[in-house]
Amino acid sequence: MIAVLASGNGSNFEAIVRAGITELILVCDNQDAFVIQRAKHLGIRTIVLNYHGFSSRQAYNQSLLKILSEWNITLIVLAGYMRIIDKSVLTKYPKILNIHPSLLPSFKGNKAIAEAFAFGVKVTGVTIHFIDEYIDEGKIVFQKAITIEPNDTLSSLEAKIHRVEHEYYPKIIKEVMEELEHESISECK
Ligand code: GRF
Repeated sequence: MIAVLASGNGSNFEAIVRAGITELILVCDNQDAFVIQRAKHLGIRTIVLNYHGFSSRQAYNQSLLKILSEWNITLIVLAGYMRIIDKSVLTKYPKILNIHPSLLPSFKGNKAIAEAFAFGVKVTGVTIHFIDEYIDEGKIVFQKAITIEPNDTLSSLEAKIHRVEHEYYPKIIKEVMEELEHESISECK
């Protein structure tokens, strides 16, 4: 079972579900996020852990860990999740996937597309990686370069990047799930 953690719009979450990955739950830290509407529409079980309703970051993470364990989560997938993953979660789940809209290690942070566009780079892209304790770092699993054409605008570039994200994130998630299943079968032998 996969847990998709998302905080906002949820277009990647929707692409994942529409690609046929339905053995999943959505965990959302923001009760107003549009991703919750998408999950409802798609019939996906959603758990809202409203971050601001917790007394501390620690309390939030304890609840998150409890949910992950109750749902027997084997893979965590971040899809526009705006919180730093706590060490307590990383220790328990060392393989957590994230998608980032640039060719890491360039343009880390949450304004990656706009910054790459403003910088005038000719090539940007999408990175899918396992996270570590630092922001937008960790082992890269997949990258796809996207050319910024002279007639591109920020919004046409955003659209290109999201199209690539939606095409490849589900594929990589499927591959990683297969690898994890393989690993757990070998461990049982
Ligand atoms: C995506 O661009 C993803 O790369 C980044 O956050 C954005 C989330 O978009 N981490 P959405 O919520 O999936 O539409």
